[in-house]
Amino acid sequence: MPLLLNQPELLSKDHYLLKIETKESNFNPGQFINIKTSANTDPLLRRPISIFDAEGNSISIVVRVIGKGTELISRMKPGDMDVIGPLGKGFTIEKNKKVILIGGGVGNAPLYYLMKKLNDEGTKVTYIYSVKNKDFIFEKNKFKTLADEFFITTDDGSEGIKGMAVDVLRDKISSKDYDRIYCCGPEPMMEKIVQLANTNTPVEVSVENYFGCGVGLCVGCTVDTVEGYKRACVDGPVFDGRVILWDKMGG
Ligand SMILES: Cc1cc2nc3c(=O)[nH]c(=O)nc-3n(C[C@H](O)[C@H](O)[C@H](O)COP(=O)(O)OP(=O)(O)OC[C@H]3O[C@@H](n4cnc5c(N)ncnc54)[C@H](O)[C@@H]3O)c2cc1C
Ligand code: FES
Repeated sequence: MPLLLNQPELLSKDHYLLKIETKESNFNPGQFINIKTSANTDPLLRRPISIFDAEGNSISIVVRVIGKGTELISRMKPGDMDVIGPLGKGFTIEKNKKVILIGGGVGNAPLYYLMKKLNDEGTKVTYIYSVKNKDFIFEKNKFKTLADEFFITTDDGSEGIKGMAVDVLRDKISSKDYDRIYCCGPEPMMEKIVQLANTNTPVEVSVENYFGCGVGLCVGCTVDTVEGYKRACVDGPVFDGRVILWDKMGG
C-alpha cells in the first residue's frame, strides 16, 4: 500500500503538501491519484488530486481544503494511505518549443510537474500563476526557478499584477507566437483562455469537475464535447480546450 511520508505541511492558506511513496514510478504530468479519505463510508467516494511533483517512486500533491474529504486528507498521519493511481490522461510534452502555462488557484499544482518535464525536453516556459490573493500562493519560488518568464496575478493586487491571468496572456500572445498553451484552474478562466488563444495554437486544459468512481465506471464526470460525451477520469482530465462545450460545463 502507498505510504504517506510526512505530516501534511501547511504551504499557504488552506493548502497542504503531502509526500507519498508508491510502487509506481511512471507518472505523467496531468495525471491524478484517487484517495480514500476515511476508514468508514463518510465520505464514500475517493477524492481526485493531481500529481504536483514526482521523482522515482515518490510523488507529492498539494491539497486545498474545501470540504470534509480534503480536510481529512490534510489531517492524515504518516503511514499507510489508500490511494489508486496514477489515473487519467496527462498533458502533451513539447520538445524544444516555447509554451505558456497558466494556473488558477490550486490548479497551479499539476503544472509544476509539467513544467519540470518541459524543462527536461528543452522547452521554454512562460508561466502565469494566478490566485485570488497572496495568502493562497504556494511554492512560488519553486515555480519561479523553473520558468523562463514568470508572472503572478492576484485579483486584489496583493502580490504581482492586479487582475486576471487572461490580461497577461493577451499581452504575451500579441507580441509572440507560442507553440502550445496549457491551463488548469476555474472553468471560466479556462474558457476565456481558449477563446483568446490564436486559432493555430493548441490549448490543453485540465478539468477538475465532480468525479465519482474515478476509473471510468459511473459516468459521474461527464464532459460534453464536440465529439460527444467524454469521461474526464479516463478520457481526460486533460483535453483539447477547443473540443469542450464550455456552456455545458458546471461553471
Ligand atoms: C482530476 C482532478 C484533479 C484535482 N486536483 C486537485 C489538486 O491537485 N488539489 C486540490 O486541492 N484539489 C484538486 N481537485 C479537486 C478536489 O478533488 C476537490 O476539491 C475535492 O474532491 C473536494 O472534496 P471535499 O470532500 O473536500 O469537498 P466536498 O465536501 O465534496 O465539497 C465542498 C464544496 O466544494 C464543492 N466542490 C467539491 N468538489 C468540487 C469540484 N471538483 N469542483 C468544484 N467544486 C467542488 C462542493 O460543491 C461543495 O460546495 C481535483 C479534482 C479533479 C477532478
Ligand atoms: S468518475 Fe466515474 S466514470 Fe469518471
